[in-house]
Amino acid sequence: MSVDSTKDHVRIFDTTLRDGEQSPGASMTLEEKLQVAEILDEMGVDIIEAGFPIASNGDFEAVSEIAKRTRNSVVAGLARAIHADIDRCGEAVRLAERGRIHTFVSTSPIHLQYQMNKTEEQVLAIITDTVARSRNLIDDVEWSAMDATRTPIDYLCKCVEAAIRAGATTINLPDTVGYATPDEYKAMFVEIRNRVPDADKAIFSVHCHDDLGLAVANSLAGVAGGARQIECTVNGLGERAGNAALEEIVMAIRTRGDALPYATSIDPKFLTRASKLVSAVSGFPVQYNKAIVGKNAFAHESGIHQDGMLKNAETYEIMKPEDVGVKSTSLVMGKHSGRHAFRDKLKELGYEIGDNAFEDAFRRFKDLADRKKHVYDEDIEALVETEIATQGE
Ligand code: KIV
Ligand code: ZN
Repeated sequence: MSVDSTKDHVRIFDTTLRDGEQSPGASMTLEEKLQVAEILDEMGVDIIEAGFPIASNGDFEAVSEIAKRTRNSVVAGLARAIHADIDRCGEAVRLAERGRIHTFVSTSPIHLQYQMNKTEEQVLAIITDTVARSRNLIDDVEWSAMDATRTPIDYLCKCVEAAIRAGATTINLPDTVGYATPDEYKAMFVEIRNRVPDADKAIFSVHCHDDLGLAVANSLAGVAGGARQIECTVNGLGERAGNAALEEIVMAIRTRGDALPYATSIDPKFLTRASKLVSAVSGFPVQYNKAIVGKNAFAHESGIHQDGMLKNAETYEIMKPEDVGVKSTSLVMGKHSGRHAFRDKLKELGYEIGDNAFEDAFRRFKDLADRKKHVYDEDIEALVETEIATQGE
């Protein structure tokens, strides 16, 4: 099967409320989860993974409440390959307009030996049994091969074939431990989709962890290999180093449509709001230099960059801040700022001073910036006021 190169729709499956919440210390209350689900629904997320219903009564309640309230997105719950998990999950998503059971089992030799203590044949039988049980409860069933990227490809093909034959409509091949490289991950999807009979009956999905900082690159590589669903989280929240960051994937596809000929249904204007909300409710701050949603993502301090930005924003920005819900670019005044930005700042603050006064004020601003980490507007105002006063003496 060849890889489709037209501008295909790639489904965004957000798992902030399930994999994201599994980050140690990131647990959220019901009210907080409802707020997050609401913004995900509004921003155009195709599938919201709302939780792991068997994990606790609280998780069950959150999944069923989100299932009831969500208007546009499919609402999924996670279930191990255990009847009780699947039945509980089915019950939790029952009231969704569009619900999904997402069931998974480990497939790699190391997981089979140490975690499951089962043979390959036993796991194949479990896949057939649990996917079929899920399909008896609901039409939309996702099956995941946990640790797919460390599973021998011949065995992985058999597992995927069994899952599709038993009725799985989405096949997710996670890089559970963030081990794959982009080329390997893409090749895995190409080979599986070529070898497995009826592979085109299912949507293939990527799910990447960021242990080596490759989660977003791997996700996009998996899509190049034919996957059409990306599992990700807001701010990349998730186990260990986290999951692929939703905002990075959405903006990479949107900004680089020439190289990544896909489309998502996400309205990027919500990205900043969603990031702030998830950071607030999870208690995980967003690093200043985080792509797309970090405080510095649209901030410039160096003189050369500020000068360029004042002439044409495209000199140093490849996205418009307004597109992701940020009011505007910020030119931060500091020791790296140059005359152009300083003059512009004075104008913004309402000052017009002569050339000599300007040169004096600029020198004093540079001295101040050498001593102070942050130079605020008030500092600059004080400096110019003193300059004006001394000129008048
Ligand atoms: O990382 C993983 O393998 C998972 C599965 C449960 C999909 O989160
Ligand atoms: Zn995961």
